[in-house]
Amino acid sequence: MDAVADHYASSNLTGRILAAFDDAGIERGSIDADALASVDEFHLGGRAASEVVLDALTGATSLLDVGCGIGGFARLAARRLEADVTGIDLTPEFVSTASELSDHVGLGSTVAFAVGSALDLDVDDGSLDAITLLHVGMNIADKAAMFAEFKRVLRPGGTAVIYDIMRTSAGSITYPVPWASSANESFVDTARGYIEALESADLACSEPVDLRQLTLDTLAAVAARPPAAVNLGHLMGVNFPTMFSNLMRLVNSGVVAPTMIVATKD
Ligand SMILES: C[S@@+](CC[C@H](N)C(=O)[O-])C[C@H]1O[C@@H](n2cnc3c(N)ncnc32)[C@H](O)[C@@H]1O
Repeated sequence: MDAVADHYASSNLTGRILAAFDDAGIERGSIDADALASVDEFHLGGRAASEVVLDALTGATSLLDVGCGIGGFARLAARRLEADVTGIDLTPEFVSTASELSDHVGLGSTVAFAVGSALDLDVDDGSLDAITLLHVGMNIADKAAMFAEFKRVLRPGGTAVIYDIMRTSAGSITYPVPWASSANESFVDTARGYIEALESADLACSEPVDLRQLTLDTLAAVAARPPAAVNLGHLMGVNFPTMFSNLMRLVNSGVVAPTMIVATKD
């Protein structure tokens, strides 16, 4: 897990994000939650994919976003759902940035963030309506242990929405990719592997939903617009273009696909 946190760690992240707005001539006081979407939704399909995940959470009044990054999805969920939302993440710098950015956009009192591990949730048994896991499982070797934790903390009838990059065919992964600098931190699995791990934790699964086309459409729309003030390069540093092109080669060659699975506790 240290290697995973090292992959994502950087220093002065909030300062660098706000400085990027300065460089684009945007007043810091005018930055709202939507203006952060190009840097704080660190998953394929960005906001459009987040909307698909939100659709699976209708009616949830308590949500834990596991591996929340700098908090984009948690902030969006807090605005859209009438729910208590908490985000946890392994990477301390991401958690402090999530809190600082939430304060900056006036959402500091509506969503909470803490350092924590997906494998050891600091949450009471049966206390949550919903859990989200967005592009995190690629860093988790023991998915069955993680899903057993999900089952423990969900209430009966509760839902876990998993949206990860899943393997769709054989083919080697060239590193770095956005979730890993090397194979040491990378545990990409098939949708079948996820379903087996979820079912081993006694969670019932939906059919996997492939969000590849949504991702490609979103990237085309982004390319057609003027560049945003901030982007994932500000989050992940100068290697991000290489990480992203390695990932898109895998998506375009059918080795992996962004895939959503909804799991429910009976
Ligand atoms: C690709 S980022 C996705 C962030 C966020 N979910 C999003 O969609 O914007 C993966 C995140 O998972 C976190 N992570 C990886 N392994 C974790 C673990 N075992 N427990 C908690 N967080 C973890 C990383 O620190 C990183 O913030």
